[in-house]
Amino acid sequence: MKAVILAGGEGTRLRPLTHTRPKSLIPILNRPMIDYTLDYFKDCVDEIIFAAGHMVDELRAYLSTIPEGSHVEVVAEEAPLGTGGAVKNVEDLLDEPFIVFNGDIISSFSMKDFITFAEDKGGVGSISLYPSSHPEDYGVVELGDGQRIVRFVEKPSPEEAFSNLINAGAYYLDPKILDLMEPAKFVSMEREVFPQIIDDGFFGYEFEGYWVDVGKMDTYLEAIRTLLQVHGSRFIGESDIGEQVKVEEPVCVGPGSIMRDGVLGPNSSLGKGCRIEGASIGNSVLFDGVTVGRGVEITDSVLGMNVKIEDNCIIKGCVMADGTTIGEGQELSNEKVGMR
Ligand code: GDD
Ligand code: MG
Repeated sequence: MKAVILAGGEGTRLRPLTHTRPKSLIPILNRPMIDYTLDYFKDCVDEIIFAAGHMVDELRAYLSTIPEGSHVEVVAEEAPLGTGGAVKNVEDLLDEPFIVFNGDIISSFSMKDFITFAEDKGGVGSISLYPSSHPEDYGVVELGDGQRIVRFVEKPSPEEAFSNLINAGAYYLDPKILDLMEPAKFVSMEREVFPQIIDDGFFGYEFEGYWVDVGKMDTYLEAIRTLLQVHGSRFIGESDIGEQVKVEEPVCVGPGSIMRDGVLGPNSSLGKGCRIEGASIGNSVLFDGVTVGRGVEITDSVLGMNVKIEDNCIIKGCVMADGTTIGEGQELSNEKVGMR
């Protein structure tokens, strides 16, 4: 069986972090997003096709460094073709029923169980479903008897959202679905294809556990928090968190990071080689090589690679591009620093 991973979005809602990396290389507890995506497919599929676009060279370079990379074919779109157009674009590589998977999902979803469900149901295909308290942000699904999907509407208005069940981003599809899409055209699978196949045997697989779409800054932090709470703290390699530091677990600390004084956590993650003199860091992520001075307070924020925060700054709800420097004593709240 083959799988197409959709990873060609520009990650606009994650800027400025996605100015310098594709969304699939955003670090989550010191592993790039793509590692989590590939984990779903262990022992499930023979070949993975990565439908990419934005910053594809960085993606290829990363895949060449990991063993799983040898089972992955990267196909780049010159311009984004949409979620359906991207699958149509790799039609020649597909024959039997295949999997499509959104490359930005952190979840306890089991690909094996999903495939078993979909093979059993047959029809034109199945998709994964998860209950959400904000269904209007996603594709909304109504289920009928026998797990048949009877209605699918992509991002309806909050008043129109008719169910709390949402499209959780995994599809098992019969190749005949490809006939519904024109080649070399922008096609949205969710808006143009799914509503058309409702009467042809289209099924929904519900699962429990956790599920987060890492599409926006708040859901990125939610993914970090969820993984830390489910799997507990993670100390990777040698690090040096001084005795003066109050650690409020769960936290993740990358190799070579040094913290002298202050409070770390909860739900916070330090990358590789961070250096923190004295700070309070809560619900925040510091990418590799971040340095923080004394008397600094960082909450609900994401600091890109090699960001430097000088003494006595207060940073709340901010996102900073790689390489940003914030001078002494500044107070920043809900800012995106380094947008182009
Ligand atoms: N190759 C390619 N080309 N990939 C794309 C393109 C494109 O033009 N556009 C988006 N993608 C990729 C994104 O990189 C992402 O991994 C996936 O397709 C979904 O796109 P998002 O932009 O993240 O969509 P969304 O999160 O707003 O909504 C989608 O996902 C939800 C679940 O996570 C929809 O499928 C919703 O129905 C669904 O509920
Ligand atoms: Mg998404």
